[in-house]
Amino acid sequence: MTPDQAQEQIKQLTDQINYHSDLYYQKSKSEISDFDFDQLLVKLAALESEFPQFKAEDSPTQRVGGTITKEFDSVIHKYPMLSLGNTYSEEDLIEFDNRVAKGLEGQTYEYFCELKFDGVALSLTYEDGVLKRAVTRGDGTQGDDITTNAKTIRSIPLKLKGEVPAEFEVRGEAFFPIKEFQRVNAEREDIGLDLLANPRNAASGTLKMQDSSVVSQRRLDCFLYYLLGENLGYQTHSECMAAVESWGFNVSPTYSKRSSIQGVLAYIHEWEEKRHTLPVETDGIVIKVNDLNQQDQLGFTAKSPRWAISYKYKAESATTVLESITYQVGRTGSVTPVANLSPVLLAGTTVKRASLHNADQIERLDLRIGDTVFVEKGGEIIPKVTAVNLDLRKTDSEPIVYITECPECGTPLVRQEGEANHYCPNADACPPQVLGRIEHFIQRKAVDIDSLGPETIRGLLQNNLISNYADLYSLTFDQLNGLEFRIFSDKKGEYTARSLRDKSAGNIIKAIEVSKKVPFERVLFGLGIRFVGKTVAEKLAAHFQNIDALGLASFESLIAVDEIGDRIAHSVIAFFQNEEHIKTIEKLRQAGVQLKTDQSQIIVPESNIFADKTFVISGVFTQFSRDELQEKIKANGGKVISSISKKLDYLVAGDKMGPSKLEKATTLGIKIISEEEFIQMINN
Ligand code: IVH
Repeated sequence: MTPDQAQEQIKQLTDQINYHSDLYYQKSKSEISDFDFDQLLVKLAALESEFPQFKAEDSPTQRVGGTITKEFDSVIHKYPMLSLGNTYSEEDLIEFDNRVAKGLEGQTYEYFCELKFDGVALSLTYEDGVLKRAVTRGDGTQGDDITTNAKTIRSIPLKLKGEVPAEFEVRGEAFFPIKEFQRVNAEREDIGLDLLANPRNAASGTLKMQDSSVVSQRRLDCFLYYLLGENLGYQTHSECMAAVESWGFNVSPTYSKRSSIQGVLAYIHEWEEKRHTLPVETDGIVIKVNDLNQQDQLGFTAKSPRWAISYKYKAESATTVLESITYQVGRTGSVTPVANLSPVLLAGTTVKRASLHNADQIERLDLRIGDTVFVEKGGEIIPKVTAVNLDLRKTDSEPIVYITECPECGTPLVRQEGEANHYCPNADACPPQVLGRIEHFIQRKAVDIDSLGPETIRGLLQNNLISNYADLYSLTFDQLNGLEFRIFSDKKGEYTARSLRDKSAGNIIKAIEVSKKVPFERVLFGLGIRFVGKTVAEKLAAHFQNIDALGLASFESLIAVDEIGDRIAHSVIAFFQNEEHIKTIEKLRQAGVQLKTDQSQIIVPESNIFADKTFVISGVFTQFSRDELQEKIKANGGKVISSISKKLDYLVAGDKMGPSKLEKATTLGIKIISEEEFIQMINN
């Protein structure tokens, strides 16, 4: 591709991505799938790395992260980030309104009502329409500079639309959308990681992560609710919000202007239930005097504005009786206690079960069967038991003794040091673990045999046709056609008979056949190695190239791979030490499942002269394409990274390299080598 063509394609891709982003985040519509959207980004990133001279400062590829920040810089807020006074009753609100009326001495005024989003406050500074800095609230006076992480939030514009003030600050709440939070937790549960406690803490933890590419995968969102700057020329908060919206920011459409405190109370009632349908958790509303001059007249106390206040909804809590505890066993053998409750109405739904997390939680709550307990619900998340009403405790009740044996297979449970959960170690024969592993293997992100539902898998296990996922590859059409099995209906509380028709049998056989072409990294993810999620599987596959090399890898060589820590390394080693796993892998190999990366991608090692050395490639070269140069570096033991930092060893400088890279490398004293010098190094 010529540079001109590349420049044109970069422009087209950028426009396309910005169009879809805008559609998604501003108009809540989408014309392409998430996957296709990500593919556009991947394509653009590849072109930008080959032609860095055309990478724009506000390129949408910054959304995919990649920068590692060891420690965040502390930044003093230009305008302190104050908190809001809280009220919990309508009387308190009426008192607030009286104070406002008194302060405004007979002027008429109106309120701007918004929901109070439960996330992490962020301050964003824009200069000439470009995002310069994103800072957390911190102690209100100074916070952490988390710009690289904030850039991965797709609804935070990197560059604004239309006429914007030369400099301003906009504040809002970054949050974990509830659906996203559930998705991430389902994935964590699937690979045996502890669950994130709630969306708010998870959002806060995510924004303080050092690796922005992990932040990017979590797809946080952000609502903006406050504009600050000098002489911006707006008279009211509602004008500010309209402007902010028109520049491309995400403003929650839930706001409303009200001309009296009665109107505000109506807004509160209107949203009390409806707020649970929003994508974000909310815990109240915020009201602001709309006129900016009147805001100035009212001013601030030391801690908060006199022109705004929040009203907190009562926590959605109910009391009920703990009838019993059930213990559920997951795919990885982890045991989760669940409380069975007398049915109770909570936030519009009947609650019968609540999560208890683990043994420590039961001990902390000092729970006993028959106790009257408080249950709470946050947004749409599963309700949890928060406390016991000790006044109502029966005198003969006894502390709960946590189970010591697996409720499914009777094997004694184990609990590893430092881990919160108990585990059933009988991985090979414990029914929910066997079933869970097969379900994990066939899921879409793994080998994608989705015509095979959980009921049919149970049927195959019942009929002893399979005992693990590798056995799927020996199934025949005749075995499946007309296969009879029983399924348990929760509704009826009884078993009903089922049988497979020839069409579904044919589809299953076809899907199993197709799955043999699925690339190695997805098969590796499907194997179900504890802590090896999709991204880790991709890293391991790219590094070791095939299952045999991975199976023989030492602890040291595993932790040398990007993003692989002690815990994952131990888990990989333990997986390959298990005889059963080796047999399963052999069956997969016999069946023709992909257990190595595509041959064309394999790099043949040449030497180790660049061991532990890092390289940045910039510009164009005469003897190598950029990909070839990259492969040469890897083949000689080196590592290619994308950004220049103090720790970089070499910058390989080609023609037309970006001036900013050259300048940065020179200032940091990085060794800059030409293509010829590079060739000399490998020939020596
Ligand atoms: S306005 C000076 N509006 O609540 C007033 N804050 O207790 C600036 N919050 O730190 C804040 N939703 O993190 C405002 N619609 C909203 C809000 C909101 C959530 C948070 C924000 C702030 C805290 C104040």
